[in-house]
Amino acid sequence: MRTPVIAGNWKLFKTIAEATGMVNELKPLVANASGVEIVVAPVFTALSRVSEALSGSNVRLAAQDCYWEEEGAYTGEVAPKLLADAGCSHVIIGHSERRQYFGETDATVNKKGKAALAAGLTAIVCVGETLAEREADKTFSVIETQLKGGLTGFSSDMLAHSIIAYEPVWAIGTGKTASDQQAQDVHVFIRSLLAQMFDQATANAIRILYGGSVKPDNVKGLMSQPDIDGALVGGASLKADSFAAIANFAA
Ligand code: PGA
Repeated sequence: MRTPVIAGNWKLFKTIAEATGMVNELKPLVANASGVEIVVAPVFTALSRVSEALSGSNVRLAAQDCYWEEEGAYTGEVAPKLLADAGCSHVIIGHSERRQYFGETDATVNKKGKAALAAGLTAIVCVGETLAEREADKTFSVIETQLKGGLTGFSSDMLAHSIIAYEPVWAIGTGKTASDQQAQDVHVFIRSLLAQMFDQATANAIRILYGGSVKPDNVKGLMSQPDIDGALVGGASLKADSFAAIANFAA
């Protein structure tokens, strides 16, 4: 049994007041959601205050990125242990926007993932193909390269403390969702690849989230697919009512 995860990636939105206001609105709306892990990922500057606002609730906290060193002369970076110190239990790694705009590679994803796990965080490792790659029939080979590079040197136990997010780049922020079947097909591919790279039991247990224009009206169809274990939600996670509707998909 894989407990579904609904994670909201707030990207570069919300002041501290807006972020704490949002979670105060969200908490009662999801208080009865059982059998689902709910996570929100605000900007770094809001983490600690959002953590206080979430205290005692069933909503967990993620950061949107981290560095791989614990400390040192690395101006501008934030270490995983400092994210844990701010109240995070999860961290998103390798989001396509970081790959596209900030030079993230499979090698840096790998270092960040290992550092996050070493600090006791759950790593949400993102993979996904661009439209050009899908149209050139390269979806599976792109995902394979990203997973093999991103998870190099991981043990089964490390994988078990990670979550994979499949986010086709062409579906992010575009309003174009992958069809339930398109997403399911890639999730099956990912799970079978992880079974080869690690072992079947670990692959069976890992949560694979879908991301890319998930909304209250398409979440049920996606979640009814056997290998889709949750959602990484951008735009629709910014408002309490729409994010709560997604988190309450099973209600
Ligand atoms: P979207 O973003 O839901 O706005 O498409 C998803 C993501 O980038 O994680």
